[in-house]
Amino acid sequence: MTDQSVSRPRRRGPRAALASAAVVALAAGTALLFASAASAATTLGASAAERGRYFGAAIAANKLSESTYVNIVNREFNSVTPENEMKIDATEPQQNQFTFGNADRIVNHAISQGMAVRGHTLAWHSQQPGWMQSMEGSALRQAMLNHVTQVATYYRGKIDSWDVVNEAFDDGNSGARRNSNLQRTGNDWIEAAFRAARAADPGAKLCYNDYNIDNWSWAKTQAAYNLVRDFKQRGVPIDCVGLQSHFNSGSPYPSNYRTTLSSFAALGVDVQITELDIEGASANTYRSVVADCLAVARCNGITVWGVRDCDSWRSSQNPLLFDCSGNKKPAYDAVLAELNSGAPPPTTAPPTTAPPTTAPPPTTAPPPTTAPPPTTAPPTTAPPTTPPPGGGGCSAAVYQLDQWPGGFVANVRVTAGSSATNAWAVTMTLPSGAAVTNAWNSQASGSTGTVRFTNAPWNGRINAGQSTTFGFQGTGTGSGMTPSCSAS
Ligand code: G3I
Repeated sequence: MTDQSVSRPRRRGPRAALASAAVVALAAGTALLFASAASAATTLGASAAERGRYFGAAIAANKLSESTYVNIVNREFNSVTPENEMKIDATEPQQNQFTFGNADRIVNHAISQGMAVRGHTLAWHSQQPGWMQSMEGSALRQAMLNHVTQVATYYRGKIDSWDVVNEAFDDGNSGARRNSNLQRTGNDWIEAAFRAARAADPGAKLCYNDYNIDNWSWAKTQAAYNLVRDFKQRGVPIDCVGLQSHFNSGSPYPSNYRTTLSSFAALGVDVQITELDIEGASANTYRSVVADCLAVARCNGITVWGVRDCDSWRSSQNPLLFDCSGNKKPAYDAVLAELNSGAPPPTTAPPTTAPPTTAPPPTTAPPPTTAPPPTTAPPTTAPPTTPPPGGGGCSAAVYQLDQWPGGFVANVRVTAGSSATNAWAVTMTLPSGAAVTNAWNSQASGSTGTVRFTNAPWNGRINAGQSTTFGFQGTGTGSGMTPSCSAS
């Protein structure tokens, strides 16, 4: 692990060797994205990408040298979440001394493979370093905001979605906030964290993430729902909700899961299943979870919490898609089949301000005994072989340019127009003498003069009015570039 003081300049991007691998991976991924539906995708990530989604896994930096492990990761997933490496105790073990070595290993690996990264997590009551555990009050508030700012700034442009705040609500029927040292700094600590994260990385989606918010009738689910609704109403920056979805006998997959997903989505946020594992790995339950996500347009990704059963934090429950030898389990086949049966993404955006599809139930009511009707009809016909065009166009802007003598990093935001994009391309004419050396979250064609950047496998799909970001590093000067965007 290497120490990186915050006073040192921000890392300028992945190494050139990693970048060339990324170009190959992205090219392959893009081909998969547009593959004919007649030849069903054979990996989870490729199949999810065809449906405008990602399929990811939590991974550990110290396992990236194990060939069985890394082969599965590279083959199957188009998104990763560092399982522990971005937590507060890992990234700021001493106050204001930041360590990004293990997290960088994962981020660089993801970039080299053309994968998205979910950042986990910026503010949490657990896995705090000792210095933070003993803090309270305004000193803690300031330290928390500094942590959010420094870490999100360091990874600016490289994170698809951040779990800004993790597990802030109590279990049980109270619907109350968890009594943590962060909560004791004041009830507004969550929104303060989100505002700091937005300021530090305007291109990342900002998520609230929690467990036991899967069952629509549970008080904790309603508490999280009310938080998101309140944030949306008051303009606090929030883009997504993460449902951890650790399912087991004490917290089983609920029959109203789809209602929960669609109700959060109706608030105008993406919904992500962020830590999925299922005790015993029932193929049917895994299939249901995937079907529920596919039925909700704004459920844009699923992450399983580990790769093989032996990698799981609950390894005795055998809850994952691969056995300890790395073989696919029946649950894997069910997930892939369900993904492949899903329709391609619609071309019109879901409403962003519509009321929830169902009224919140009384929080003390017992769980319903019958499943609610699906809020979106499941697809009954095979998807067309090519996605319909995104006729609403797109726009692009350089939102951040870091220039130093001899080089620069540019971060570009791509925004869909009046309808969703399935794919996009941004062209930019570089100043004389400038050259692109590597790019992330996109694929670059050419390096000098007019350079064309096309979407990565996971970010071609942008809902109407929504944005994604990509970045590139170059030699020379990057000032004065005017991007133009086209969408299909
Ligand atoms: O790496 C050390 C090792 O050197 C040491 O010998 C060993 C002794 O205990 O500990 C190892 O670290 C452990 C680490 O996992 C890596 O395996 C920590 O003790 C252990 O606490 C840590 O557990 C993690 C847990 O979060 C901590 O809260 C799990 O891996 C991780 O899967 C789990 O993830 C959480 C999510 O972040 C939030 N949602 C719930 C989820 C499951 O608890």
